[in-house]
Amino acid sequence: MKIDILSLFPEMFDGVFHSSIIKRAQEDGKVEIQIHNFREFSLDKNKKVDDTPYGGGAGMVLKCQPIFDCVESLRTEKSKVILLTPDGVPYHQKMAYDFSKEEHLIFICGHYEGFDERIRTLADYEVSIGDYVLTGGEIASMVLVDSIVRLIPGVIEEESHLQDSFRDGLLDYPTYTKPANFRGMEVPEVLLSGNHQKIDEFRKEMMYNRTKERRPDLLK
Ligand code: ADE
Repeated sequence: MKIDILSLFPEMFDGVFHSSIIKRAQEDGKVEIQIHNFREFSLDKNKKVDDTPYGGGAGMVLKCQPIFDCVESLRTEKSKVILLTPDGVPYHQKMAYDFSKEEHLIFICGHYEGFDERIRTLADYEVSIGDYVLTGGEIASMVLVDSIVRLIPGVIEEESHLQDSFRDGLLDYPTYTKPANFRGMEVPEVLLSGNHQKIDEFRKEMMYNRTKERRPDLLK
């Protein structure tokens, strides 16, 4: 998979994309990630990327030209363009699975007070990571990239994400490791029993109970 990210702050991605599983996925050639500072595409003599809003109001608005030119330099018929914005569709695991099957994703990170409405016409998807406003789309795009890249075949053991929370629309079951008793807190007996049918039943029950208790909205 190829991922291109349009951002005015490429340095924000350094730590996240150069550590852990995302780093290894790039080294193993499972994904190629490039950050593009769309300021470089500005045709303005001072490389301006924003301007005051028509009709007045506070703050500066990202202009169309640099973002259109940058996207058009990257886009092919196989690309999907994702615009990160708090008024987008709420992100969830099913979208991560669907995006992980694409060949080429282009993320547009908005910043400052907002972006020219016409920039939306570039996007195949508008996505929000939650009902709060971030200073820009950078952190949101990192959230998407992380959740998508781990689902690319071979990036993590398939078994790990077969058990993910949300996979069957339910939260994950609780897991334990040694010791069996830590400060008086015991591992459930059934997990020590070696009876795999019983263990499966226990886990399914825990998934259902935990979802009912914490996220009843998922059961609807
Ligand atoms: N940009 C600013 N806030 C955002 C959010 N909640 N989701 C996606 N992009 C954003």
